[in-house]
Amino acid sequence: MKSFLLSSLLFSTILAGVVPRATEKVDYHGFKVLRLELTEKSAKVEAKIEELVAHVLNPGTSSVLDVVVSADKVKAVSAFAKKSTVITEDVGLALEGEGGISAYSVPSETWFTAYHSYADHMQFIKDLQASFTSNSEIITAGTSVQGRVLTGIHIWGSGGKGSKPAVLFHGTVHAREWITTMTVEYIAWQLLTKYGSDASVKALVDKFDFYIMPIVNPDGFAYTQTNDRLWRKNRQTVSGNSCVGRDNNRNWSYKWEVTGGASTNPCSETFKGLAAGDAPENKGMMAQVTSLRDGKGLRLYIDFHSYGQYILWPYGYNCNLVVENDAQHRSLATAAAAAIKAVSGTAYTYGPSCSTLYATTGSSTDYTDVVGNATYSYTYELRDKGNSGFVLPVNQIQPTVRETWAGVVSMLKSA
Ligand SMILES: *[C@@H]1O[C@H](CO)[C@@H](O)[C@H](O)[C@H]1NC(C)=O
Ligand SMILES: *[C@@H]1O[C@H](CO)[C@@H](O)[C@H](O)[C@H]1NC(C)=O
Ligand SMILES: [Zn+2]
Repeated sequence: MKSFLLSSLLFSTILAGVVPRATEKVDYHGFKVLRLELTEKSAKVEAKIEELVAHVLNPGTSSVLDVVVSADKVKAVSAFAKKSTVITEDVGLALEGEGGISAYSVPSETWFTAYHSYADHMQFIKDLQASFTSNSEIITAGTSVQGRVLTGIHIWGSGGKGSKPAVLFHGTVHAREWITTMTVEYIAWQLLTKYGSDASVKALVDKFDFYIMPIVNPDGFAYTQTNDRLWRKNRQTVSGNSCVGRDNNRNWSYKWEVTGGASTNPCSETFKGLAAGDAPENKGMMAQVTSLRDGKGLRLYIDFHSYGQYILWPYGYNCNLVVENDAQHRSLATAAAAAIKAVSGTAYTYGPSCSTLYATTGSSTDYTDVVGNATYSYTYELRDKGNSGFVLPVNQIQPTVRETWAGVVSMLKSA
């Protein structure tokens, strides 16, 4: 590889009399793929072959090497092998037939026209990050009951990594709320793909460090695809009981012990667990929140759920208490609801969560507000109002992610 690149660079330098650009694409017309059967696996022989070829496709693996080699070196390379076979006559022609580079590029908006597997969601996040390596990184927040790593993406702007107040988004804490995965991914995708072309997006990315986690209940999410589409909780067992799962949004360690906002029955959809924070996913998320608090501080937290079309803020555990900046919470929520409505007409209801919807104990936003010291903490309940419920048709994915993006942008501008 090295010698090939070097000699081709030197050659074109001499021809053109200029330094070739590093981005110039290699032309593989006239190159072949050869399969070489060596008498034995030998690093020394492999090194000699490597000097002659453009690429070894399976380096160091066995005594059979697949190599890409120019036509004029086929003979010299074949001399090292007891047998050589042509696998591809002309690599350039093969590449023409490939149909361009859609296989690995920035994920496109068509991603948001279908629901996807857990593995594909992880690949989406990795591909997105790989497309914007200078201002993003993969982040993790602990491990699920079944050993899946809670994985997300950290995005920053011109101030550099970790220099601004944190914005934290969590999706899919409830396994069956598939639209939330798509929405949280859409926000990350918009922030990165529009950064270079949209001044208002650039201003937001330059203002905050974004920590975006599309799936914080990976076991539950996987289970909705393998076993039960309508599963809600994680997949934690309780000794002596055949029911499975804790409600991760009833297991945060703030006012977890208060009664009336969660269930103590392991079979219930809102089972709070045996002790506060005993769900491993919650341990990871709580560590993430306190670490952001202790860094540049947490400016905005949003926990994305469905369904119901609500924007809610603390408190969940007590219907008579409001947060000290309740008026500011209301102001941002009012603007966000208006922004959503302006896109699509979708109507949201908003208010403190206990008095507006129902009591919840051990919820994420009570925790981020008090323990996380977040300036703003919200729960979004996305489309719809129950007609399709959790099973929101695919043709509503794009309308939902777009309207929600408008609401979130509105919040980010004022936060
Ligand atoms: C819930 O969280 C508490 C502490 O926050 C922890 O002690 C408890 O074990 C957890 N249980 C479940 C089932 O989630
Ligand atoms: C909480 O956040 C505010 C800024 O919003 C900051 O001034 C204050 O020091 C923080 N308190 C703690 C305990 O982190
Ligand atoms: Zn939910």
